[in-house]
Amino acid sequence: MRGFPIERIRAITFPPPPSIADVKGRADAGLVRMNLNESARAPSPKAMEAASLALLDANRYPDHECRVLAAAIAAKTGVPVDRMSFGNGSGEVLVAAAMVSIEPGDEAVMPAPTFPTCGKGVQIAGGRIVNVPLKPDGSNDIPAMLAAVTERTRLFYLCTPNNPTGGTIGSDDLRAAFKQVPDTCMLVVDEAYFEFASVEGGPDVLALLKERNGPWIVTRSFSKAYCMAGLRVGYALASDRDIAYGLWQLRPNFNLGRPALAAAAAAMHDEPYLQETLRLTITERRRLSEALIPMGFEAFPSFANFLTLRAPLPASELGRELEKKKILVQPLVWPDERGSLRITVDSRESTDRLVEALADLIKP
Ligand SMILES: Cc1ncc(COP(=O)(O)O)c(C=O)c1O
Repeated sequence: MRGFPIERIRAITFPPPPSIADVKGRADAGLVRMNLNESARAPSPKAMEAASLALLDANRYPDHECRVLAAAIAAKTGVPVDRMSFGNGSGEVLVAAAMVSIEPGDEAVMPAPTFPTCGKGVQIAGGRIVNVPLKPDGSNDIPAMLAAVTERTRLFYLCTPNNPTGGTIGSDDLRAAFKQVPDTCMLVVDEAYFEFASVEGGPDVLALLKERNGPWIVTRSFSKAYCMAGLRVGYALASDRDIAYGLWQLRPNFNLGRPALAAAAAAMHDEPYLQETLRLTITERRRLSEALIPMGFEAFPSFANFLTLRAPLPASELGRELEKKKILVQPLVWPDERGSLRITVDSRESTDRLVEALADLIKP
């Protein structure tokens, strides 16, 4: 007799995200949340106003075609609306990207460690993940990933900047990947943190993709630079309409709520607020690394709203001790057993509390 859930769903290896309880409907103000790569800032006031207005029609289903948001994205990216799809967070489009590409038994080449959700989609679809270790600087190792491609490879996932390490892929490596990944293979580029990298002179992935003949999907998020992690909006841009249609077919009906859609469109029109968020985040990231390096931490290059550092003590131990002080960070088992800490750039106050707590834990 068949057991449920079916075997390949039971076999999914990715755990759910850490859950943090709210207090009376608000994020717990007593906790320092530096573990989920959220923004310390509230969304743009224009986004909040648009979300409040949208609540007046919350008895009506939202616009499934996301027309207002799609027009804003088309204006900013130059990609036409019929080559887009939308998700309840970009995680949802990453699962869909895998599901439109993978048949049972197919292979997906992925960097390791990286953001897990596309890999989860591969497992849902019955595919096999082929992990390729990151370069020592924490970016995706393109030559090694290309060497891992076989005739069974149907998906090639890149994450730039890479979570959990923060490194970006250089233009030459991107060009090589876009040319050499076979046309029989879907190339997925996860750009959840692209605004941060882009303002620091990072490569223009969409422009470079013009050189690719084969299929591609780029995913982006409103959770990071647009400060909207709690509203859940992400989107995909695809190389052609058929792929976008496939992603669209996998969307549950009305998967983005009215307030979220309205806020995302308004946020995209508030360029000064975005630029200020990027400036504040990059300034605070510098402050964080300048405070931790003298304590014996070594920072990996980061082009995102988090910083990954090798700790002078085992990272998991430090993570546990910080949690006792109500400071949440993400310990990693990378690049070796001693591990690293991935620390989200939050407010000045959060940096100060973390630095004080670490000074206490690390003191000779
Ligand atoms: C690289 C990367 N991709 C995608 C996501 C998913 O973000 P969301 O579903 O909130 O858009 C994250 C979130 O941390 C991420 O780090």
